[in-house]
Amino acid sequence: MKDKLEKIKEEALDALKDLNNLENLEDFRLKYLGKKGELTKILRGMKDVSPDERPEIGQLANKIRGSLEKQLIEKKDVLQDKALEYKLSQEWVDVTMPGRRPARGSLHPLTIVRNEIIDIFMGMGFDVADGPEVELDYYNFEALNIPKNHPSRDVQDTFYINDNILLRTHTSPVQIRTMEQEKPPIKVIIPGRVYRSDEVDATHSPIFHQIEGLVIDKDVTMADLKGVLDTFAKKMFGEDTRTKLRPHHFPFTEPSAEVDVSCAICHGEGCSVCSHTGWIEILGGGMVHPKVLQNGGIDPEEYSGFAFGMGLDRITNIKYGIDDIRLLFENDIRFLKQF
Ligand code: DAH
Repeated sequence: MKDKLEKIKEEALDALKDLNNLENLEDFRLKYLGKKGELTKILRGMKDVSPDERPEIGQLANKIRGSLEKQLIEKKDVLQDKALEYKLSQEWVDVTMPGRRPARGSLHPLTIVRNEIIDIFMGMGFDVADGPEVELDYYNFEALNIPKNHPSRDVQDTFYINDNILLRTHTSPVQIRTMEQEKPPIKVIIPGRVYRSDEVDATHSPIFHQIEGLVIDKDVTMADLKGVLDTFAKKMFGEDTRTKLRPHHFPFTEPSAEVDVSCAICHGEGCSVCSHTGWIEILGGGMVHPKVLQNGGIDPEEYSGFAFGMGLDRITNIKYGIDDIRLLFENDIRFLKQF
């Protein structure tokens, strides 16, 4: 029995020496010290040992057990230290290495140009206003002096939600909303999204963007309109830009004009962007119709004003030489990254 115990001890110490990771350590514990382990088996067999041998064998077995347990704990410490050291060596970070740059987005070309236009008008003392995209027929048409039989009221052109509610077809309804809320002098620009039931092609999109302007004060004249727009065009397209007003008709202005600027690409020589005319139409405008002033609660005898509306998508395309409006809405990152 004694020999058996010594043999187990030798074997266990050899096995312990060879142990090199924490999982094997547990196997070792089960094999020698566990409930079904070799030492336990011996202690269980004590009843077969003769009574005078029993104390000595018992003591020896317990001694071996104690010593193995102690060595096991020491081994465990060593192995845990080693494991930690290994882990730290693997997770080591070189803080002097250059970092990985997070991918950064950029402003949409429409946003860039809108901000630029807002900046120019703010420089001339304009405030920025806005209004709802889901609009009442009253503000979009009626109050702007657009008669019931006007073609723009046709469902072919306008997205109706019901008889009275629609998606605004221009930013002009915000003129009336602004007049209702503010007393003259009024000097605002109104950037926003507008909707028309157009077929999509290179120059048409059912959603597009306008920037409206409205100035109301005493003694405002057409010359003020021309001056403001000329200043705007020079800041936007270059100091040598010229402006031209052509007579036109809008229900909400009288007189009305369409405004052309000299082509920024060919400087008036004629090129494909300006269809070889040297001029590019950028907006419509005019003197606010007396009926429209009245609808906004402003006395046309006391005040006068001018208004204008420009297409932001078109101006963006002219500015960047983009030849298809759809590119502005597809949001292909390869396109957007270029601005
Ligand atoms: N609302 C017009 C449109 O969508 C543009 C416009 C023309 C706005 C003349 C105005 C204006 O304020 O005076 O085509």
